[in-house]
Amino acid sequence: MPEFQSVRGFHDLIGEEAKKFRAVCDLIKRKLALYNFEEIVLPVVEFLEVFQRSIGEATDIVQKEMFAFQDKKGRWLALRPEGTAGAVRAYVQNRLYAIKPYAKLFYEGPMFRHERPQAGRYRQFHQIGAEVFGSIEPVVDAEVIHLVHEILSELNLKAVIEINSIGCKVCRPDYREALKQHLNKVEGQLCEVCLDRKDRNPLRVLDCKVPTCKEAVRDAPKMVDFLCNECREHYSKLKEYLTALSVPFQENPHLVRGLDYYTKTVFEAVSTELGITLIAGGRYDYLVEELGGPPTPAIGFAAGVERLYMLLKEIQPEEPLYMVIPFGDVVDYALLVVKALRSEGKRVELSYKRAGLKKQLELANKLGCRYAVLIGEEEKEGGFYTLKDMETGQQVRVEFTPAL
Ligand code: HAM
Repeated sequence: MPEFQSVRGFHDLIGEEAKKFRAVCDLIKRKLALYNFEEIVLPVVEFLEVFQRSIGEATDIVQKEMFAFQDKKGRWLALRPEGTAGAVRAYVQNRLYAIKPYAKLFYEGPMFRHERPQAGRYRQFHQIGAEVFGSIEPVVDAEVIHLVHEILSELNLKAVIEINSIGCKVCRPDYREALKQHLNKVEGQLCEVCLDRKDRNPLRVLDCKVPTCKEAVRDAPKMVDFLCNECREHYSKLKEYLTALSVPFQENPHLVRGLDYYTKTVFEAVSTELGITLIAGGRYDYLVEELGGPPTPAIGFAAGVERLYMLLKEIQPEEPLYMVIPFGDVVDYALLVVKALRSEGKRVELSYKRAGLKKQLELANKLGCRYAVLIGEEEKEGGFYTLKDMETGQQVRVEFTPAL
């Protein structure tokens, strides 16, 4: 084993994996462009407080999963565990609210969470996230969820989109109380972690995977029954628009998400094949204000790129590969052929191996070339090259005049 290994939870993406990774990113970005999202390139490091204030002190991410460290001046910084907090910080800092009535931004890049690594869960993973700032209208929620649905359909991935409404400042406090009362009654069934969550962050208990906790919350009061008029209307409009758009969805009254900034709509696209969440998001109408901006409603989602490409069966075949093989003192002429083929848009590899024709053709085969372009003294003298189809073995002479 070599002396140095990558750090646990941090991975190299090589060959086919890297291609699938890129195919997923490209497809999502093409879709985002159609919805007129603009890219924002965000730093990987923020002040720790940005995450504490946004994601919430009582969440697993902030309590257990941050890669936090002190800089030379003793200030606490952290590698970003997600993109929304940084996007909101940037929106406020750059006063984007003063420029446009609403902003539609997307970002991509690595995120870092100190979780226990397993299939589909890494310590460095990649998200493409999109955020819409400035509109409270449920039609935005519908557009965002429609976009998630379209991404999954185009990737040919089977997933169920679960939705819920978790209310707002007006209606959630009453629900929290009702839920706490229920949890007090069933506290004997709760796991250690949920006993602790019960008072500080009771909604998270709904999300616990421990079987006794699941059983304990089965008959718990549901947030949807406590929604104020505004939230109820918002949720029902959202469902109406999704139905009009033929976006299939499932209501999950226990869907709460692991980040505290959410209000009203939350959603997750869960893979039917693996049961893991591929894309998730929701509305966060108070966060811009919380980070020092004017009251600005917002909603967004983030796609986990690793989880998506893991499930990807196939990607578009690449352009056929040409390999230019010079044999003899003809490299100058071969370089001109390479240049001309590439300028025609062909994918071309120049053989760097100094060997006879047979060895070089073996190399072309190993590299998966579709065509070999053979160049010897005769070709150079005569102003042509020999094009060999590696599948059929057929050879043809192609006239070649170097561009001046
Ligand atoms: P999240 O649910 O924490 O939401 O993450 C979004 C997606 O990132 C997940 O559905 C999953 O695909 C991927 N993901 C999360 N953790 C890991 C991990 N350890 N390894 C691999 N993939 C992972 C957010 O991050 C919110 N910022 C989404 C959002 C944007 N809400 C509003 N705007």
